[in-house]
Amino acid sequence: MKAMASVVSSLNSFPERMPRVAGMLGALISESQFDFWAREFGSITAWRRVFARVQSLRMEGAETLSIELRPNRNFQSAEPGQHVNVSVEIDGRLCNRSYSLSRPAEGGCVSISVRREPGGLVSNYIHDHLRVGDVLELSQPYGELVEGLAGAPTQLFLAAGSGITAIYNLIAEQARRGEALRGELWYWEKQVERFCFTEELDALCQTHPQFSVRRFCNAGDSSSLYSTGRLSPEVAAPLCERYLNASVFACGGSAFVGAARELFSDVAGGFYAEAFSPPQRLGEAVAEERFFEVSLTRSGQTIAVSSQQSLLDALEEAGHQPPHGCRMGICNSCSCGQRSGESQNQLNGEQLRGAGSVRLCVSRANSNIELDI
Ligand code: FES
Repeated sequence: MKAMASVVSSLNSFPERMPRVAGMLGALISESQFDFWAREFGSITAWRRVFARVQSLRMEGAETLSIELRPNRNFQSAEPGQHVNVSVEIDGRLCNRSYSLSRPAEGGCVSISVRREPGGLVSNYIHDHLRVGDVLELSQPYGELVEGLAGAPTQLFLAAGSGITAIYNLIAEQARRGEALRGELWYWEKQVERFCFTEELDALCQTHPQFSVRRFCNAGDSSSLYSTGRLSPEVAAPLCERYLNASVFACGGSAFVGAARELFSDVAGGFYAEAFSPPQRLGEAVAEERFFEVSLTRSGQTIAVSSQQSLLDALEEAGHQPPHGCRMGICNSCSCGQRSGESQNQLNGEQLRGAGSVRLCVSRANSNIELDI
């Protein structure tokens, strides 16, 4: 144990030695043993996994907690608007959730913001139990909203609820890099006290005169500071004129993003969106529920799944714990092999017949299928 302590401490002190030392250690110790002992000695060093220590916590509005994290050196640099999967052990069970990067990266740290969801296992655990100094495991960052920033002279940002975290990160990172902001943010919340990053966004409006923020709240007691109305053709009409051929970014619940897509995808120069949950496909009537058998080739089990639930939900209900992250069809961590049968991706409507790769979180069975699980 003493020898292991000295190895871990030497890796902490001289991280640049990591690849060479890890190569030498490979013959002596497994990756999981190394990670285990590093954690035992209080280090976030790991062979390949990304661990991050909580540096600070701060509330943003009434229900959102921003967590500043210092990841280990395995973390790749993040792009604006990306997300990470966060793994938390709750009552002995490893739970994964996807959270957007929020505050701009600083000094090797990244920030995520977590809104407390009613009944949300992970969000409530994080709000109630996470402390400075705790360690979380992260995935590498993912997400492609940043693509819309390239060569976009004007930008329209649409955010609803916790969709503001990724949108704020897109905006604030541009400002941090010294780029001029041109465009506006329209931001919806259900209650006034939920608005996040208020001071920061107002400060950006001051320092970037060609950027403005309009906040919407339909709660009865909202003041003149807030507009009312949902994202509709009437509300959006002036935006469609102002942002013809501009880059439009939308982030929020699936209904909000679906409405934004209908309004802007044909008029914008580029439409970039991420929704929190797989949408009911636009224009699709809810089909009659049917049940199929999913055969799991590795475990030899067969489970019944409804045509109206995702394969991931069905597997979890049956007691399986397939790897997953975002549950939105973005991160790809739930992808697994389908050997036979037919499934359908609910995001894009694509049907997979026979063998291929299926994203469990956004796919449903259209027939009996076989999965490599
Ligand atoms: S969990 Fe992220 S794509 Fe399925």
